[in-house]
Order: sequence, then structure tokens, then C-alpha cells
Amino acid sequence: MKRDVRILLLGEARVGKTSLIMALVGEEFPDEVPARAEEITIPADVTPERVPTHIVDTSEVEQTEDEIRDEIVKANVVCIVYDVSESSTIEKISSKWIPLVNGHVERSSRLPIILVGNKSDLQCGSSMESILPIMNQFSEIETCVECSAKNLKNISEVFYYAQKAVLHPTAPLYDPEEKQ
Ligand code: GTP
Ligand code: MG
Repeated sequence: MKRDVRILLLGEARVGKTSLIMALVGEEFPDEVPARAEEITIPADVTPERVPTHIVDTSEVEQTEDEIRDEIVKANVVCIVYDVSESSTIEKISSKWIPLVNGHVERSSRLPIILVGNKSDLQCGSSMESILPIMNQFSEIETCVECSAKNLKNISEVFYYAQKAVLHPTAPLYDPEEKQ
């Protein structure tokens, strides 16, 4: 059984990574946020899976590539956050963020990824049409969820899914790519 869970938030600037963390902790939408939130630890007894959970923010404004790489290596699960109203932040999931994550983990130790579509308050439709092909392409993506830090919608779900991906992984027993 895992002793604790380390959740890392990655994604383009301004998608709302810091706001999501502050909304979870403060239970309200923060009008102003620093570039990077302090690492927070949620005690075991208030998490759904009863495991101490660390939530780690990143910011390309404040951190070097090396610092972000070090955080990827330490993480148990990565949330790649995008803005549902900005298609460029969706394109970067497969062109930039997934390769970055995969480039820093050993082939044998799979690092689960959750796709998090923030700012659902800004759109009427759904980003799933653009997200599904990405999910089909990368088996390390455990699930996807749309949320809004502003409306406090699905915030705790994001972190619950991340925790669950570590504690109850649904990795395929057999990876067809390894057979080639
Ligand atoms: P960097 O630290 O620069 O990488 O950005 P970030 O991903 O941490 O984004 P941040 O939390 O700083 O939010 C960027 C802007 O988006 C801020 O003006 C937030 O108020 C706004 N924002 C964050 N979440 C939401 C949301 O759910 N809905 C709306 N409408 N705006 C949001
Ligand atoms: Mg930030």
C-alpha cells in the first residue's frame, strides 16, 4: 500500500493551475493568485482514500526546465491542465506536455496522467471532441475531467481522480506496443 500520493499540476501558462489548487484549499475562487502555489499536504483523514496527499504546482514563469523536470520525476501522478476555451492549450497536451512527462520516466514505471479541462464556466459545449483522440493515442492517460475553479465545479473530483489513479491504477495488463 502506498504511504502517500504526490500530485503534480502541469500545463500552459494562465490555464488556471494555481487557481485550482487555491480553490480546493480555500473553497472559494481566488481573485488573485501567485505564479506558483506553495506545496500543500492534505492529511490522510480528510482525503477520500485515507492517504496523505501532496499537491504540487508548477509555473514556467518562476521555474526552470530543470526544476520542472525534477518535480516530474518525484510525482506519482500528473494532472495536465488545459483551458477548455483555448484550443492552443489543448494542442500543447500532445505536442509538449505528454512527451515531457514521458521523457522523464522509465519505461517500466508508468506515471499516470489526468487531463483537466479548466474554465468550464467560459464555454457552453464540451472539449471532449478534441480530447478523445488524445486519450486514444496515449494509454498513460487515466481519465479526463472538466472543471471550473471559478464556479468551484468538479474541483475535488480532479484531485480524487488523481489520487485514485495512483492507488487503483487501471493500467492494461498487456501493452500492445511492447510486442512490436
Ligand atoms: P501560470 O502560473 O502562469 O502558469 O498560470 P496558472 O495556470 O497558474 O493560471 P492562474 O491560476 O494564474 O490563472 C490564470 C487566469 O485565469 C487568472 O486570471 C484566473 O483568475 C483565471 N482563471 C482561473 N481559473 C478560472 C476558471 O475556472 N474560470 C475563469 N473564467 N477564469 C479562471
Ligand atoms: Mg500558476
